Amino acid sequence: MAKVTVLDHPLINVKMTILRDVATPPQQFRQVLHEVAGLMSADAFLHIKTQACRVTTPLEETDGAMLAEHQPCLVSILRAGNGLTDALLNIMPEAAVGHLGMERDAETHQARAYYEKLPQKIDKRQVILVDPMLATGGSAIMAADQLKSHGVTDITFIVLVAAPEGIAAFHAKHPDIDIITAALDRELNEDCYILPGLGDAGDRIYDT
Ligand code: PRP
Ligand code: URA
Repeated sequence: MAKVTVLDHPLINVKMTILRDVATPPQQFRQVLHEVAGLMSADAFLHIKTQACRVTTPLEETDGAMLAEHQPCLVSILRAGNGLTDALLNIMPEAAVGHLGMERDAETHQARAYYEKLPQKIDKRQVILVDPMLATGGSAIMAADQLKSHGVTDITFIVLVAAPEGIAAFHAKHPDIDIITAALDRELNEDCYILPGLGDAGDRIYDT
């Protein structure tokens, strides 16, 4: 059964407070989002496969580790996913990067897929799926469906703010995918926004 890890880290909690604050301008929002992603990266990459190698220090030869042959892939759910993905890519620059375009309809709240670009041999790679918001779960479910249709079997989902409704819906469809989130919020409102949340993540990042 899939796990939900809610990161309880004092520095993440301080930075999440800045992200939630309606007065935080986009420039600062992007900067702090990068900082949170850096703090989340240790958990996000905990399961990455490595292989043994040898390394020569200035004093002697010793055991080391290197990434396994098929390097991991970060998959960003556009467009808000890019803010987190770029920061995770800074930590693991060897990763390939895929993009899945998903947009929620303002009236129905249903996700619509509008773009897909994935690296070669995606089925052989470990995928870290990235989206700051998990609200109804519609976008993430569709993204995971798309990845699995390409043969991907190893997916971890990295989220900034998750709603209980979204976690339940996502794990009902994808019980094999672990979720790591910086915050687990209370509920959705009637417009399917997360409460207390941080508003529309894409709008906060890109000032739209
Ligand atoms: C936001 C967010 C998620 C989605 C979450 O994207 O980045 O992808 O909503 O909602 P859900 O769980 O109910 O599907 P949005 O559709 O606003 O697109 P954007 O990133 O282009 O702003
Ligand atoms: N998408 C967002 O960006 N924020 C929410 O609260 C819900 C969906």
